Amino acid sequence: MPDDSAPVSPALTYAGYLELDQLLGLQRPRSHGPEHDELLFIVIHQVYELWFKQMLHELDRAVQLFRGGDVHRAQHTLRRVLAILKVMVAQLDILETMTPLEFLSFRSRLQAASGFQSDQFRQIEFVLGQKSRAAIERFPAGTRARQALECRWDEPTLWDAFVDYLHREGYAIPAAQLERDPAAAIEPNSDIQRTLIEVYRTDPKNAELCERLVDLDEGIQEWRYRHVKMVERTIGAKPGTGGSSGAPYLQSTVGRPLFPDLWAIRAAL
Ligand code: HEM
Repeated sequence: MPDDSAPVSPALTYAGYLELDQLLGLQRPRSHGPEHDELLFIVIHQVYELWFKQMLHELDRAVQLFRGGDVHRAQHTLRRVLAILKVMVAQLDILETMTPLEFLSFRSRLQAASGFQSDQFRQIEFVLGQKSRAAIERFPAGTRARQALECRWDEPTLWDAFVDYLHREGYAIPAAQLERDPAAAIEPNSDIQRTLIEVYRTDPKNAELCERLVDLDEGIQEWRYRHVKMVERTIGAKPGTGGSSGAPYLQSTVGRPLFPDLWAIRAAL
């Protein structure tokens, strides 16, 4: 028998499910007025952080799927990551409608805040194999950001999971590569390159997977390139609020591939 005396919980609404009251209360410009363009600056960074969150969710799944040998779903997940990345690159168009003077109208309010301090961006770099101790140490001990990065330090990267998967598919992978320190940088390896050439020549299913990883690598580099161009047109040669040299520092990060072996083999195919 249904219990008529039990309190009836109110029907779930759109606003309730999405916690819209909280979400829409989180954009708080700091400039006086406030300056018109500061809202866009806050919204776009918050949207990026949400996409970073979703991307980490999907990248972690891709690692698990490779490790479980579920290559079909891994491929599907990578396609979703690539679709998110495309949106992330396209969003820079919106911010580029902000002129240097419009940005200057509130820039001082940012103090030392900068995307440089985005721990989720660093987490994405970590899953993709670009780990750095300095990136962890910038966050105070005990913070969510520090803990998240510490957890990822020893975790296998997407590349490690992929190489391990190739090994389980029967391909020759050197033992040193299978046991490599997942925190170390991903260096070019001629044995792996030989295996990848064989994959491309004889195994269309896994060659497709390699191509998705190249898409991902190119997509991240595209974001870095578009971001530095946006920075150059908005602040020119000024240093960043995060304390770096600004555009020169960002230029040094462009063109650094995530998966060097996949680029190295192109000339040999
Ligand atoms: C007017 C807009 C923007 C300007 C002028 C700008 C400027 C900069 C500068 C100068 C840096 C170098 C670090 C420093 O601050 O010293 C940087 C880093 C960074 N910014 Fe932006 N940025 C803008 C928008 C964005 C947006 C929308 C995002 C999205 C989250 C973002 C994410 C990042 C990230 C992740 C880094 C670290 C890159 C790395 O270390 O490789 N930025 N930004």
